[in-house]
Amino acid sequence: MAKEIKTIGVLTSGGDASGMNAAIRAVVRKALSNGVAVKGIKKGYQGLLNEEIVDMDRHSVSEIIQRGGTILGTARCSEFRTEEGQARGAEVCRKYGIDGIVVIGGDGSYRGAQALSKQGINTIGLPGTIDLDIACTDYTIGFDTAINTAMDAIDKIRDTSTSHERCSIVEVMGRNAGYIALWCGVANGAEDILLPEKYDYNEQELINNIIKSRKMGKTHHIIINAEGIGHSTSMARRIEAATGMETRATILGYMQRGGSPSCKDRYYASIMGAYAADILCQGKTNRVVAHANGDFVDYDIDEALAMQKEIPEYQYEISKALAR
Ligand code: ADP
Ligand code: F6P
Repeated sequence: MAKEIKTIGVLTSGGDASGMNAAIRAVVRKALSNGVAVKGIKKGYQGLLNEEIVDMDRHSVSEIIQRGGTILGTARCSEFRTEEGQARGAEVCRKYGIDGIVVIGGDGSYRGAQALSKQGINTIGLPGTIDLDIACTDYTIGFDTAINTAMDAIDKIRDTSTSHERCSIVEVMGRNAGYIALWCGVANGAEDILLPEKYDYNEQELINNIIKSRKMGKTHHIIINAEGIGHSTSMARRIEAATGMETRATILGYMQRGGSPSCKDRYYASIMGAYAADILCQGKTNRVVAHANGDFVDYDIDEALAMQKEIPEYQYEISKALAR
């Protein structure tokens, strides 16, 4: 029989992402409307171990749906990777009467949730990362805002690149995944899109593309480079030397993680947060909420972590066909 849930906790972990606040708000308000009390755990698993735990009410999540970042704070916590750390985390939950936790974060944070579940604390994961690199879901909280922020920035870089007839390499985030690069590459009409999953480090091909498009009369050349490939500044120097075209590198960096969440991020995070609260209140554990095939669903964490995700081949082919 599922254990009775009287109090749940909510934490954000790993890199922050716009929409995390909307998810926290939804967890809190849906749990309260189910008659379950909620505690906020600050700074991820580190805050759990440090017992940085506060009571949450409806009012404590007012005025946050439109704000980027996470009101609970976030952290990376190496101690929680150890069994001792995980056992201590479960002990702290018991001390504060926390029967279950909603963990908002990426794959790494799910592993922490899986460990806590094994320690007898019910857990539900929510996909919170700008990288879109969680295999069980086609949506992650923060991705939409991040790509729109990056897209706007790249449009601006394109204006000045055209005026100066320059080549621009724009490096976008994503850790080892190329989803931000792929989406922006297509949406910004980039001439080349470099994805860690696909790039063969053949710079000569890039150089040939630039020379060819110059001959065709193009006044700029935008290369979207994914963080997983990196080295944009040295790449720019080599490309300028080989093509004679002035080349600049821009690393967009952390601006992609902040800012007011898009409508999609607010909406999906709200639905997913409420869904997580509901299944946690029902006594479910070791699950993650996902969006797949047009619907909100949940999976076992072990199964979710075993799934693989790849850049969709057809979309990648299209991105190449449209680039030139
Ligand atoms: P993300 O959740 O965005 O993937 P990280 O990989 O940095 O970010 O993970 C966030 C945190 O989750 C880590 O700092 C750590 O506290 C916890 N975590 C990561 N991997 C594990 C693991 N294998 N076991 C337990 N906890 C983990
Ligand atoms: O996972 C989100 C992300 O922004 C990645 O795109 C990036 O590689 C990483 O976090 C940066 O992490 P940190 O905040 O630790 O520098």
